[in-house]
Amino acid sequence: MWSRCTRTRSELYKHVLLNLEYQRRCSSFASFPGEPVGPSLQTPVPGPKTKRLLADLNKIQQANSTQIFVNYDKSIGNYIVDADDNVFLDTFTQISSIPLGYNHPELLKLFENEHNLKSLINRPALGVFPGDDWPKKLSNIMSLVAPKGLHHLNTMMCGACANENAFKHAFMAYQRRTRGNDDFSTEEQTSCGFNTPPGSPHLAIMSFQHAFHGRTLGTLSTTRSKYIQKIDIPAFDWPAAPFPAYKYPLEENESYNQNEDNRCLEQVEDLMEQWSKKGIPVAGVILEPIQSEGGDNHASADFFRNLQSICKKHNAAFIMDEVQTGGGPTGRFWCHEYFDLESPPDIVTFSKKMQLGGYFFNEDMKPRQPYRTFNTWMGDPGKVIMLESILNIILRDNLLQLVRETGDYMKDHLNNLEKEFSPLIHSTRGRGTFLAVTAKTPELRDDIINRLRNKGVICGGSHPQTLRLRTSLTFTKAHADIFLDKLLQVLKEF
Ligand SMILES: Cc1ncc(COP(=O)(O)O)c(C=O)c1O
Repeated sequence: MWSRCTRTRSELYKHVLLNLEYQRRCSSFASFPGEPVGPSLQTPVPGPKTKRLLADLNKIQQANSTQIFVNYDKSIGNYIVDADDNVFLDTFTQISSIPLGYNHPELLKLFENEHNLKSLINRPALGVFPGDDWPKKLSNIMSLVAPKGLHHLNTMMCGACANENAFKHAFMAYQRRTRGNDDFSTEEQTSCGFNTPPGSPHLAIMSFQHAFHGRTLGTLSTTRSKYIQKIDIPAFDWPAAPFPAYKYPLEENESYNQNEDNRCLEQVEDLMEQWSKKGIPVAGVILEPIQSEGGDNHASADFFRNLQSICKKHNAAFIMDEVQTGGGPTGRFWCHEYFDLESPPDIVTFSKKMQLGGYFFNEDMKPRQPYRTFNTWMGDPGKVIMLESILNIILRDNLLQLVRETGDYMKDHLNNLEKEFSPLIHSTRGRGTFLAVTAKTPELRDDIINRLRNKGVICGGSHPQTLRLRTSLTFTKAHADIFLDKLLQVLKEF
């Protein structure tokens, strides 16, 4: 539908009418009866009620990260409604964590079922008192979406919590291999009480510059995207390797980008050796299949395959953080499926679209004693009930295909916009609807996001000047048309 970037006013008007009709037809097959045909604003954004609520909340906590206050009763499908009754097309979906859109009719019914309701309100300490349906529930999730070759699963609370525990599994496996057995010496048992070796060994997790893996104390040492997340907090002495910084379009910059891969992989090996010499060997390497908070930075399948062999050579666990990429937004359920890895990653962590945190892992990563990765809740059966239903809907409605089609469509048009409005935006990139463009400056990016919001579109940004799309899996070409038209209007304003 959205075939050209430059239109006369009457062409644009005609296009919008056609678009509304198309959207009307789509909203029925996207199974969101009642989804609006487009955004509509009642007030400037933020509106008066939003401003009042922000003042109230700021009295209680530092709340200045708040963008809008949401009416979750009224929000529906790909549209989010704020406290002032403004209706926005949501291309950011709660930092990429709403898989099907708001108030999906089938999810709304889940807790009408008495068994589900009782699982929700009687929240168990899953490590000690799981419900009698828990093994079946986990097997079901595994049979639906476990990454190929990973036959174990732990659920946790959030993304950081998943990564934090993944690190522990990597350390335990490393030490078990070094020790050569599953028992602990008396010295190890005593010394860990004083945070000293051999019980508390000097080991490292390597991550990449610009990475984001969470803000808990351990994961924060691997997060490298913004100073505000890290400043004042003590950190482990762990290495950060450079992540490839590609030039776009990829087809025109093949040799430059290949050199980037090589440069970064050489540094990985160097850092492994340096840290080993320091007496802090690298027990695990964590990275995102697409660096998300750090600016939507991509690397080639070759890069990931070579990195995995370096990890194998150095006995370090290869951990894929799929917290943001997992659950389908790239057009495959797990983004690392695009890399044709020689063998599965040792651990794949998830959260966001999966509703709760957790990780899949291989036999080597499985702790040999109980209580080694443990907390009170270890997940949440209520969220797993939602997850099961979401996964069945994704498969039944072939939503990954929809993501690929909508994504290709948007990417083509973003590429056109980039040509039309160079140098305001450049470097269109992404897989599925997990798309991004870079703005000329961070200020311009912020300005674009604000202007989009004032035209009824919520869009995300990532470090330092990236505009990122994180739509739901039910985002259609009709929704894409609305986004593209609004972006076109905004770009024309500059
Ligand atoms: C790749 C990645 N890992 C980890 C996290 C941390 O997840 P959470 O915010 O649920 O702790 C995020 C959050 O944005 C993320 O994008």
